[in-house]
Amino acid sequence: MDFLLLEKTLLALFVAVVLAIVISKLRGKRFKLPPGPLPVPIFGNWLQVGDDLNHRNLTDLAKKFGDIFLLRMGQRNLVVVSSPELAKEVLHTQGVEFGSRTRNVVFDIFTGKGQDMVFTVYGEHWRKMRRIMTVPFFTNKVVQQYREGWENEVDQVVVDVKKNPESAKNGIVLRKRLQLMMYNNMYRIMFDTRFESEDDPIFQKLRALNGERSRLAQSFDYNYGDFIPILRPFLRGYLKICKEVKETRLKLFKDYFVDERKKLESTKGRTGNNGLKCAIDHILDAQKKGEINEDNVLYIVENINVAAIETTLWSIEWGIAELVNHPEVQKKLRHEMDTVLGVGHLVTEPDTHKLPYLQAVIKETLRLRMAIPLLVPHMNLHDAKLGGYEIPAESKILVNAWWLANNPAQWKNPEEFRPERFLDEEAKVEANGNDFRYLPFGVGRRSCPGIILALPILGITLGRLVQNFELLPPPGQSKIDTAEKGGQFSLHILKHSTIVCKPRSF
Ligand code: HEM
Repeated sequence: MDFLLLEKTLLALFVAVVLAIVISKLRGKRFKLPPGPLPVPIFGNWLQVGDDLNHRNLTDLAKKFGDIFLLRMGQRNLVVVSSPELAKEVLHTQGVEFGSRTRNVVFDIFTGKGQDMVFTVYGEHWRKMRRIMTVPFFTNKVVQQYREGWENEVDQVVVDVKKNPESAKNGIVLRKRLQLMMYNNMYRIMFDTRFESEDDPIFQKLRALNGERSRLAQSFDYNYGDFIPILRPFLRGYLKICKEVKETRLKLFKDYFVDERKKLESTKGRTGNNGLKCAIDHILDAQKKGEINEDNVLYIVENINVAAIETTLWSIEWGIAELVNHPEVQKKLRHEMDTVLGVGHLVTEPDTHKLPYLQAVIKETLRLRMAIPLLVPHMNLHDAKLGGYEIPAESKILVNAWWLANNPAQWKNPEEFRPERFLDEEAKVEANGNDFRYLPFGVGRRSCPGIILALPILGITLGRLVQNFELLPPPGQSKIDTAEKGGQFSLHILKHSTIVCKPRSF
């Protein structure tokens, strides 16, 4: 421990406490703030509520303080919204006012202070990035260009699983193979490339760096340095690791993917995928026109790596877990595909629209096991009003979308995994945000543009797995463990489950 630094920090803390008290007295009650626990100087509510601000803990606080409450986390204001009406206000009615994003010391590093799209404030740069990313990623044309590739990827998962004798006997961690599939699904779109196996050294490097990036960004461990700026010197070691990971990762994207694609284009022209452009070609065109710079290109690749791959994978993993634990649902789903498509006709993207029960299974998975349960934090750039309260500029706004979709006052037996609800009492509810109780992809300006890819990938993957296998818990277990792990944004399964995949005989 550096004692000189500690001494300086303690002195600074003391001065800051005195200053905070004086300033708060001078400022008086300028804002009519939302209710919340009583804050203390410097630390605010941080010592009372702790670090683990996951969807369940925030739900407990909403039950105590109401549908809108304020936590002072050191210097930061955190406003949590927990009703469909207030969610509508934040995401739709006042979508511009609350359309920015907060970053913190760690996200500043990983996004080059908002040179990306996901974590940039709402404004010119965001509009330009969203426009440039739409054609290469977020249209039905992209779905049609790549859907056969996705179908092919899941077929190869089926082949590999069948090859492994353990799959049908003691089971395998299916997620591992599905992770390779999701990388391939997205790397086909981005670079018209794929990885042959989990042993591919570049794939391993990429997966490790992406995993490290997620772990460092999702952790609550660095909160203290983020909430209380004078404690930031103690974060130096953590931030150094973040910088190293960020630099190595962007270099990997550049050296192995972006530059390779440029080389290929200059030697052979755009030969892959019947000469059609892949996403990076469109993005590089935008760079050539001077609309974005090279860093922006790399941050687009970074954003897709974090926003697209794991989120969809978590949802697939949750879907499989629920299907294993609800064999009657699995049977009904298989029966739907057998009767609508015919035994042996493997589900394709256009087929998914003819399979209401498959759609209901996906919706129910995204409701009960929402991959991004608090959405990506929003922010108001200027002072704003919400629910009759005043919200100081640059507050972090969390919409507890998980609670909106799991509140028993709004849903019948929400704790049950029951896809039938989306065919019966909730038949009109879609995943695109047409009902403010159900926002797995958010809604409005900052909603997820990737929904257009995620839903068909989920349908094809879950559909084909259920067509090919009976998915079961390992021998001696009646259910698999579905304990959750929540991070700053994510909700994923705590233990990657071993699943027995018993091939069906057609
Ligand atoms: C099941 C899979 C997915 C889920 C549950 C999901 C969910 C979400 C959510 C909740 C948000 C934040 C909405 C808000 O803050 O209001 C978001 C943002 C975003 N998602 Fe997704 N997503 C998924 C897949 C994808 C895919 C496949 C892509 C890209 C190919 C993608 C790209 C993005 C981007 C770029 C944003 C940021 C939008 C912005 O800030 O303007 N997502 N996603």
